[in-house]
Amino acid sequence: MLWHRGGYARRKIDVLQRESARGYGIRRGGIGELAQIMEGCGRKIGPFDCCTAIAGDCLDVMAEMPKGLVPLVIADPPYGSGGRDGSVHLENPTIALNRMSSDSYIWFVRQYAKQLFRITTADAHCYIFSDWRKFTHVRTAFEVSGWECRQLIVWDKGVGMGEYWRSSHEFILWLSKQYPRKLTHGGCFNVLRYKGVYGKAKDHPAQKPKELVRFLVEASTKIEDLVIDPFFGSGTTLVEAKSLGRHFFGCDINPDYVAMTEKRLSTVQLAMEL
Ligand SMILES: C[S@@+](CC[C@H](N)C(=O)[O-])C[C@H]1O[C@@H](n2cnc3c(N)ncnc32)[C@H](O)[C@@H]1O
Repeated sequence: MLWHRGGYARRKIDVLQRESARGYGIRRGGIGELAQIMEGCGRKIGPFDCCTAIAGDCLDVMAEMPKGLVPLVIADPPYGSGGRDGSVHLENPTIALNRMSSDSYIWFVRQYAKQLFRITTADAHCYIFSDWRKFTHVRTAFEVSGWECRQLIVWDKGVGMGEYWRSSHEFILWLSKQYPRKLTHGGCFNVLRYKGVYGKAKDHPAQKPKELVRFLVEASTKIEDLVIDPFFGSGTTLVEAKSLGRHFFGCDINPDYVAMTEKRLSTVQLAMEL
């Protein structure tokens, strides 16, 4: 039986028991339901299968999703921050949007901020990654789309790129609509320290550390809640959501990253079966 074998499954049961004790008990089908998440839950999100990673432009994908469904968004879009001439970044198609002007970038953020507003629940949490150059644009675009920026979280990466003042942090804007659901961790500090992903561990040029993303998923959802990431890259959000027994869904415009994410998601499944 999937849930009763191996150390990983044992830890999973510990998580379930801990969350039950906190009042986030297992609802509906209990452990059987969670096992289904690991294997494809069979639910639908508009025309899409829940608990899948799909290829597509997030604006098109979100336009097909029903309104008021999603309690947690974790989005790590292209930062639109430029890059020095001659930098490898300018030729890299995965971060091609880096060349957008400020006006174009605000327009782009507004398009997805409006869709996110439509598809989320009234008490939703929304985390958007950004950097020091463009976080004000992101904040403005979200606020004119109906969102309220409630916190600017600093992700301290430990080491920094560049010259002069080397950037060793990035930002995560925490946004809500009206009254956000409570954080499951109680109060959290707004500086999060997690080492960045470097070297052989890195599958995507902008990959985020799984521990950081896991912390956000745990802080803002209960077991079986739905987590979406409209720019999933190497799939970090979906993998962490899945391993925590959350429903998940997301897209990326680059089919290579979709294949990478599907592979990572299947590894989560295999880990459960050990
Ligand atoms: C910063 S990366 C995400 C990295 C991810 N958080 C991770 O840990 O691997 C942004 C991703 O957005 C994707 N992207 C860019 N424009 C998009 C769009 N309009 N719709 C969906 N995905 C898009 C890119 O292909 C890229 O993989």
